[in-house]
Amino acid sequence: MSGPAPVWDVINGYAAYWALHAAVELGLFDHLPATSAELAEATGVADPADVTLLAQLLAAKGLLETDGERWSNSPAAERFLVTGSPASMVGLVRHSPGPKQGWPELAETIRNGRPAEETADALNALYPELVAATAATQAAVARGVAAELRTRGLWDGTGLVVDLGCGSGAWLEGVGAENAIGVDLAHVVPAARARVPGASFLEGDYLDVDLPAGKANVVILAHVLRAESDERAEALLDKALHLLADAGVLLVADYFRPPNGEDTTTYADAVHDLTLALTMRASTPGRGLSEQTLAAWCAARGAHTDAVVEPVPRQRVHLIKRGTR
Ligand SMILES: C[S@@+](CC[C@H](N)C(=O)[O-])C[C@H]1O[C@@H](n2cnc3c(N)ncnc32)[C@H](O)[C@@H]1O
Repeated sequence: MSGPAPVWDVINGYAAYWALHAAVELGLFDHLPATSAELAEATGVADPADVTLLAQLLAAKGLLETDGERWSNSPAAERFLVTGSPASMVGLVRHSPGPKQGWPELAETIRNGRPAEETADALNALYPELVAATAATQAAVARGVAAELRTRGLWDGTGLVVDLGCGSGAWLEGVGAENAIGVDLAHVVPAARARVPGASFLEGDYLDVDLPAGKANVVILAHVLRAESDERAEALLDKALHLLADAGVLLVADYFRPPNGEDTTTYADAVHDLTLALTMRASTPGRGLSEQTLAAWCAARGAHTDAVVEPVPRQRVHLIKRGTR
């Protein structure tokens, strides 16, 4: 007879997220090593018993360690949960699940086939913070991808680079383009402009902005197709391909979801990607993107993936060329 553990695991995941969120809000990871009493004092908690309870759960999750008296960060927490650490994920803990209201509404969203307008608006409002939270990592990823393009003879570092949905500007900064155009929504562009002062920016819907066809040496679509309806995502891919010069390369970066029809093990391995796809569904018209769908959309336009690079685990970047192999 099977037990209820898989169900409890899911229910408890909700509480574990909020425990981590609370610890980040309190700045718990920033004041270690310390006893519960010292931590309570440092973080403004009334009763040290509450710190102990929170810390015990975080220890159970592998984020804290203890010698029975003092708490300290586990190696993962030291690297990813301390504010100001170069690899800090503190912003992602706060913002990565998207607008919080999207989750209790998920059944309604799925029933209607779209999120509530207020939830979609809340995501748009959140974008500046969301893209700031990933900027350092994405700039490093983009630097690695640019080096890869040069090694493979796909780009010599010159000419026009266009980034559709450029967010923080991290990709433009990372590839180090001398002639760059970023496109994003009006309230997101100011931070990108500050990060990459030498680039030009267009504000508005990336499907509507006017850009010269056939001129770009590199076009970037990083983590944008997953949040669009199939119809708009395919139109955006089409637009990106039209922007490319003959020898240009389109970069499509994402955490791709597995295609339909895979077995249970594949889905279990892809839980991060599937959760991200569902996160899209909770607040956007998108449901994530599979590499098979991307390949079919490219093939329908006479384009193909020349190579795939994986600069950080599970983040895959398709280097797409026009024409068939
Ligand atoms: C997940 S972020 C990715 C940002 C960036 N490409 C990166 O990888 O760091 C998605 C970006 O798409 C932008 N975006 C969403 N809808 C858009 C639209 N209709 N037109 C232009 N940009 C849009 C958002 O403002 C946000 O900056």
